[in-house]
Amino acid sequence: LHKAHITPDLVFVMIHLPHSFMHLFDNHLITANYLRKYYHLRTGTNRSGRQRSSSLVTEKLKQMQAFFGLKVTGKVDADTLTLMRQPRCGVPDVAPYALGERTLRWEHTHLTYRLENYTPDLPRADVDSAIDRAFQLWSNASALTFTRVFEGQADIMISFVRGDHNDNNPFGGPGNIIAHAFPPGGGIGGDVHFDEDKRWTKDFRNFNLYHVAAHEVGHSLGLMHDGDIESLMFSSYNYYGDNLLTQRDIDAIQALYGPSKNPIQPRERQVPQACESKLTFDAITEIRGELYFFKNRFFLRTRPFYKTGELGAITDFWVPLSRGVDAAYEVASRDEVFFFKGKASGMRQGYPKDIYHSLGFPHTVKSIDAAVHEEETGKTYFFVASKYWRYDENTRSMDTGFPKEIAHGFPGIGKKVDAVFQERGFFYFFRGKRQYKFDPHTKRILTILNINSWFNCRNK
Ligand SMILES: *[C@@H]1O[C@H](CO)[C@@H](O)[C@H](O)[C@H]1NC(C)=O
Ligand SMILES: *[C@@H]1O[C@H](CO)[C@@H](O)[C@H](O)[C@H]1NC(C)=O
Ligand SMILES: [Zn+2]
Ligand SMILES: [Zn+2]
Repeated sequence: LHKAHITPDLVFVMIHLPHSFMHLFDNHLITANYLRKYYHLRTGTNRSGRQRSSSLVTEKLKQMQAFFGLKVTGKVDADTLTLMRQPRCGVPDVAPYALGERTLRWEHTHLTYRLENYTPDLPRADVDSAIDRAFQLWSNASALTFTRVFEGQADIMISFVRGDHNDNNPFGGPGNIIAHAFPPGGGIGGDVHFDEDKRWTKDFRNFNLYHVAAHEVGHSLGLMHDGDIESLMFSSYNYYGDNLLTQRDIDAIQALYGPSKNPIQPRERQVPQACESKLTFDAITEIRGELYFFKNRFFLRTRPFYKTGELGAITDFWVPLSRGVDAAYEVASRDEVFFFKGKASGMRQGYPKDIYHSLGFPHTVKSIDAAVHEEETGKTYFFVASKYWRYDENTRSMDTGFPKEIAHGFPGIGKKVDAVFQERGFFYFFRGKRQYKFDPHTKRILTILNINSWFNCRNK
């Protein structure tokens, strides 16, 4: 059981700041920098003047929005800005004009790599392991083979550097570049640079070295960025755990170098997308007036009047919840949020607590499917398989007479609940691709809603 006391500096700064205030002054600069770096926007004074350059920006913005599958507006909207502010790879998203559609690839399939120095952030053995596994990943997926060398010039030279490091692509400037790599070729071609001013880790905290190395080595081998957020070759950093390659990544490397001898298992999709029809959720709760829809290691968050379904990583706010959540609920009157994962996990002092001693569940319960707190009565409902329990937040004890069958207390909802939350006195139950709006007073389903109804999705 997690009890996360949400302190103002966590929620108000990171979550509640209205975008329009936060970005009012630097929108223009962020956009210009981003498009210059990653979309070859050429700026500078032009006789044709302001008009020309702003239409150029609009064109590049549209190109960027199309690349990432955003709504193509040519305007700096919230989704676009969110993306532009994410930590990312320094390699452009589109090929330079000179290269056109041509891709660069190595002529030989046996390549060498050399690690020139180490980061002090991790033990050397962990750095070695991350780098070696990054190469293994690609050799497992293609006909390529790699040998690590310890001296002289290798095809792919790898180093940790900071600031201006003499390749015309300094780290530490505007934007949030974590690493970059050069396409196949002699000299600096194929080389990988990590920004030493970033923190390198071997877990879910920013930035996982194996993950970033695998992405950069993709560039070293000739791969470009992919606009699908699930792909390893997506330009912004997202942590998914160690299984990195999607089918698109595998197809891309095999198109250049041919398939591997052994079949390779792609990663399943993990990132929830607000408007996809197959969306399901692990847990949903309101937190200080915003709705959080949790799925795997991610959440979609909506603001009132502004249902964009902004994507975030759970660990950006709640580091101990790196494995995701099963159930969550808010007790707004006490400004507390409770998270459940399996039997227990930890966050604040005194927590984790197990659900048996602290809440009174029998030991047969191994995890909670869903939970919702009813502000009006002070009761919290817990759903476990086909049954539910009722807990009194005021007396901090389980009500007697429970568990009961869900079919009894919430007729029509079905035998199992994925997620539930309360909004304006109604319960919204989620099961598979269905959503039920339920009136707890009359014990009746009022409407069956689409799973995407809390997000702005056209014709869905
Ligand atoms: C200047 O304008 C011309 C067209 O009038 C355009 O082709 C060129 O890309 C512009 N250059 C810059 C630096 O914006
Ligand atoms: C590559 O394949 C081998 C053999 O199947 C496996 O043991 C290894 O973990 C794989 N490496 C990576 C990084 O996926
Ligand atoms: Zn990249
Ligand atoms: Zn560099």
